[in-house]
Amino acid sequence: MTKALVKREIRVVANPDELSHQAAQEFVRLAGEAVRAKGFFTVALSGGSTPRGLYTMLASDVYRKQVSWTDVYLFWGDERCVPPDDPDSNYRMTREALIQRVPIPKEHIHRIPAEREDHAHAAGEYEQTIKTFFHLNTGEFPRFDLILLGMGDDGHTASLFPGVSVLEETSRFMCSHYVEKLGAYRLTLTVPVINQAEHIIFLVSGASKAPVLQEVLEGDYQPQRLPAQLIQPVHGRLLFIVDRMAAGKLTRTGV
Ligand code: 6PG
Repeated sequence: MTKALVKREIRVVANPDELSHQAAQEFVRLAGEAVRAKGFFTVALSGGSTPRGLYTMLASDVYRKQVSWTDVYLFWGDERCVPPDDPDSNYRMTREALIQRVPIPKEHIHRIPAEREDHAHAAGEYEQTIKTFFHLNTGEFPRFDLILLGMGDDGHTASLFPGVSVLEETSRFMCSHYVEKLGAYRLTLTVPVINQAEHIIFLVSGASKAPVLQEVLEGDYQPQRLPAQLIQPVHGRLLFIVDRMAAGKLTRTGV
């Protein structure tokens, strides 16, 4: 399979704090553009410690007042199949780092109901939430203004892990699946939904990500092994904000 050439920007910054600043500035900019253009901003959030740094930064005095939170609508790119107050919950992490510190109306927060016993039904319920919000007809995909993504050291993103069947999903918006390596169920947006976004921003930090980031960005196209390579916006923009440690094995950052 040939490697698709995707227009993307790789922005290397000094450290995790600068990564969070740069990501917060992008968030503020994109939210402002969307609200000016259409009156609202839709974003699908990611779990993980690197994205959490952004949420904390957005809630800080430096950035909190630069976003019109009453015009922001939150979704999630993936969720662990645990209750919303579980330490593993992406929703709980976001509530603590961001939601409870900014004036976003609670009806603007579209949490994935991943605690449901029937994971597949929960995925279908969330898909309906998205269809209703975006007023979609059959066969149409949502276009989020922004989808935030992290990257695992195995090349996963959202809950799209190496070798799982959901990597090939072409029509559903959200799927539930058992992740062998975690011994746990996850719910995740699918590749076609992510790739419809206007802006996709990866946040990658730390030396442990350097080998996989180099493979994802500069290596052969092997999306089953490196699911992050599947993220190729159809008409939007792809930005990697990475710190110097994570960029340590990159040979070129201009592509
Ligand atoms: C999750 C995320 C996952 C995460 C990466 C990177 O639910 O954990 O969706 O894709 O973003 O594993 O996480 P770190 O930034 O903590 O390395």
